[in-house]
Amino acid sequence: MTGPAVPVIAIDGPTASGKGTVAQRVADTLGWRYLDSGALYRLTALAALREAVPLDDESALARLAASLPITFAGSRIFLSGQEVTDEIRAEMVGEAASRIAALGALRAALLDRQRDFRQMPGLVADGRDMASVVFPDAALKVFLTASAKARAERRYKQLIEKGFSANLESLLRDLRARDARDAGRSHAPLVAAEGAAIIDSTSLSVQQTVQAVLDRWLATGYPA
Ligand code: DC
Repeated sequence: MTGPAVPVIAIDGPTASGKGTVAQRVADTLGWRYLDSGALYRLTALAALREAVPLDDESALARLAASLPITFAGSRIFLSGQEVTDEIRAEMVGEAASRIAALGALRAALLDRQRDFRQMPGLVADGRDMASVVFPDAALKVFLTASAKARAERRYKQLIEKGFSANLESLLRDLRARDARDAGRSHAPLVAAEGAAIIDSTSLSVQQTVQAVLDRWLATGYPA
């Protein structure tokens, strides 16, 4: 079932703000579906890199995005039947994703793919424009942020844990550049949507942040 009757919690925020982990846990707690919209941009970027599609060829990238054979299976992600769960997290893929995410035709091509995730009993969606563009009628809108330093340190830990090499200084530099690009683009720039609850997780644990989102969800009184 799709449509306005299915409640959505939209969680937007900058890169490495922890929104993926938080959104996934909120979804698990409520027994709802989860959409990692950034993964769709990363999958498109990975496919473009593999197929040597130029990262500024807007119509070719939009066609690619519309036809990508993607499967989400729990926390595992497959492209054309091949698992790419870790590969799409590499910095090079994130960088390419940030570049192609500035293209309007590509964003439009991913719109329906994102809205297809809206199914009963509810959806927790994380990204940059969940509250402003993809699910403007979301029952709860959260803008999750943290200081650039805290986010760089989290990303560093994540990469090392996954076996990638990483450098904290260059991560912080890249993260600031990506923030500027995500916030400065003309299509769906990263900004807190009107009516969004702003949660700063710099000094919160993951569990405290999850609780902060759940508290706000309860406070909506939905379905009332
Ligand atoms: O959240 P993430 O780091 O996995 O996202 C990768 C890139 O995709 C990020 O630089 C911005 C882009 N993105 C976007 O423009 N809109 C979304 N809803 C999600 C991600």
